[in-house]
Amino acid sequence: MKKIHLIAAARPNFMKIAPLYHELVKAGGYQVQIVHTGQHYDKNMSDDFFSDLRLPVPHIHLGVGGGSHAEQVGQTMIAYEKACLEHQPDLVVVVGDVNATMACSVTAKKLGISVAHLEAGIRSFDRAMPEEINRLVTDSICDYFWTPSIEANENLVREGIDRTRIKLVGNIMIDSLEMMRSEIEAENAPAKFGVQPGGYAVATFHRPSNVDDTDKLAQLVSVLENVSAKIPLIFPIHPRTRANLEKFSLLDRVKNSGIIVAEPLSYKVFMGLVLGCRFALTDSGGIQEETTYLGIPCLTARENTERPVTVWEGTNTLVSIDEIAAQAEKIERGEYKKGKIPLLWDGRTAGRVVEEIKRTCKKFG
Ligand code: UD1
Repeated sequence: MKKIHLIAAARPNFMKIAPLYHELVKAGGYQVQIVHTGQHYDKNMSDDFFSDLRLPVPHIHLGVGGGSHAEQVGQTMIAYEKACLEHQPDLVVVVGDVNATMACSVTAKKLGISVAHLEAGIRSFDRAMPEEINRLVTDSICDYFWTPSIEANENLVREGIDRTRIKLVGNIMIDSLEMMRSEIEAENAPAKFGVQPGGYAVATFHRPSNVDDTDKLAQLVSVLENVSAKIPLIFPIHPRTRANLEKFSLLDRVKNSGIIVAEPLSYKVFMGLVLGCRFALTDSGGIQEETTYLGIPCLTARENTERPVTVWEGTNTLVSIDEIAAQAEKIERGEYKKGKIPLLWDGRTAGRVVEEIKRTCKKFG
């Protein structure tokens, strides 16, 4: 029986491996092991997602934890090399663009193990972004490329990848959303925060480019205060952002403003808030996609995006921090674009990936 490793490390990975794990178990005939590297370790950044998404306790836990990029990557490679030698996977599936995506793909390839990248080919063309380095390195050595959009295929072809190894499979996160939809709705998340469906906004920020600089973070806090003066604004604070708000003496100001502050939320509660919000303010990758799928306006405070289809076809707009207030007013006036759902964002991506794995594993057999 072929053994497959699914690599998960950080919060945005969990909703990408979950539908694939469930679909592989349903298909049968594979030994599937979830490998958690430990990059995200808080209960509300990790365990809560495993239970919400009905994932088992990880079969292998590398326990790497936080640290600088080099520390995370180095320690993940050392630990995962040992795990590969012990467990001998036939195929390693990496997802997304976090440090472990790169660390585990390099480690597996050097041991001669086949590696597939789910969410391959997306590019921000901004090498100051740590995730862009992870994407480029991963896609330069992978064997199989499963992509979420046509432009991801084009990026890979431009980088010299043979078309026969690229497969447009769609957006796996939409599978998680559809798989969990009734449970998400049953959470009644807006009521938990004392807000009415359609009558509030949600904000999330954690990119180093927005939250690691004191002036930029102070500017962001002012804008969030302004928005919250017009519409209830729920702001679950990521650990990186919280640490910096504290370091720059901004945390008390945020807590004492009208902003509804929360800890990082579970998948079901957070998606419940997104489902009911008037608009989202973010610098996340995944939320740009989830809001496009749901037809909800999304203002993304970044100079670029590796997910341009959300801007071209969807409900996403890239903004500078000082443009947020004007765009929010445009949404309030009903003048914001409507958007449409991109190709193959249909909740059936995991099934297409399993078909690809069947073909791939036949090749090994
Ligand atoms: C990482 C990913 C980013 C992803 C984000 C989602 C990389 C390069 N970055 O960024 O692509 O969008 O996750 O959250 O892989 N921390 C905790 N508890 C946790 C997790 C983190 O306290 O459970 C702390 C860490 O110790 C660190 C800080 O938060 O001080 C940042 O964590 P880290 O994993 O280094 O990067 P993220 O900003 O979360």
